[in-house]
Amino acid sequence: MTTRKLQRIIESVPAADGAGVKLRRSLGRANDLRVDPFLMLDEFSSENPDDYVAGFPAHPHRGFETVTYLLDGHMLHEDHLGNRGDLKSGGVQWMTAGRGIIHSEMPQQERGRMRGFQLWINLPAKQKMKPAGYRDIPASEIPVIDLPGGGRAKVIAGTLNGTAGPVQGGSTEPLYWDIELKAEESFATTIPQSYSVFAYPFEGSLEIGERTLKTHDAGVLGSGERIELRAGGDGARLLLLAARPLREPVVQYGPFVMNTREEIEQAIRDYQSGELTRAAAERAIQ
Ligand code: CO
Repeated sequence: MTTRKLQRIIESVPAADGAGVKLRRSLGRANDLRVDPFLMLDEFSSENPDDYVAGFPAHPHRGFETVTYLLDGHMLHEDHLGNRGDLKSGGVQWMTAGRGIIHSEMPQQERGRMRGFQLWINLPAKQKMKPAGYRDIPASEIPVIDLPGGGRAKVIAGTLNGTAGPVQGGSTEPLYWDIELKAEESFATTIPQSYSVFAYPFEGSLEIGERTLKTHDAGVLGSGERIELRAGGDGARLLLLAARPLREPVVQYGPFVMNTREEIEQAIRDYQSGELTRAAAERAIQ
C-alpha cells in the first residue's frame, strides 16, 4: 500500500472579504491554487470585533457549495428563500448554491473570539443549476471519536474508522474531519486512491513523510491509498479534506463558478436582472 506524500504546499495569506472581514485564504487565492473539487478555503480567527463584526452582507452564489464551520462565535445566516439559520460554536452550515442563492452571513456577537472556516466545493456541470438548498448541522450532531494512535476527530462528512458523520454522499462524496493530536501523536487511515486530499493545520504543525507543514498552510497530498500524519512538538489541530475530483473546466468570476465564460456571463445577467433570485424563489413556492 503506497502512502501519500506531501506534494505541494499552498500558503495562506491575509485577505479580506464580505464587508471587510479579515481572514486567511489558502486555496483559491489564485486560479491555479485549487485542489479539485475544492475551490477555496478561508480561515477567519480574531478576538477583535473590528475584524469581523461587519460580516458578509447579502451576496449571490451560483454553481457550487459553501461549507461554513464555526469553531467559536455565533453567526446568523439568511437567504432570499426565507431560510434562516443560527450557526453556533462547533456547528456547520452546508449550503448548496446550485443555480442561485442570495444570502448574508452576519456575526451575532459584539465581542469575544470568532473563529472558523469557509470551504467552497465545486459541483459537477450537471448539478450546477440544481435548486439551492442548505442544511444546518449543530455541534451535537457531529460525532467526536477517539483515534487509535491518540487524539480525537470530529467527523463532519464521510466516515472515519466506522463512524459516519452527518453529511454523507453528495456529488463528490467529500470527507471533512477536524482532527486534534497531542505532540508527536500520529494519525493514519486509508482514503480512496482517486480522491484529492489536503490537510490544513490551524494549530501546531504536521510532519508528513520527510516534510513539515506549518500552521495555516494547506498541504496537498500526492497519490496513494494511505495517509499518515504526525503532530509536531506542540501538537496539532487540522482539517483533513478529501473528495472525488471532477476534472471539468472551472471558470470563476467572484461568487459564480461555472464551466464556461458564457455560463458566467449568464450568471451575471441573471443576477443583475433579478432572475437568479426570481427563478429560485418561484421553485420554493411550488
Ligand atoms: Co456566501
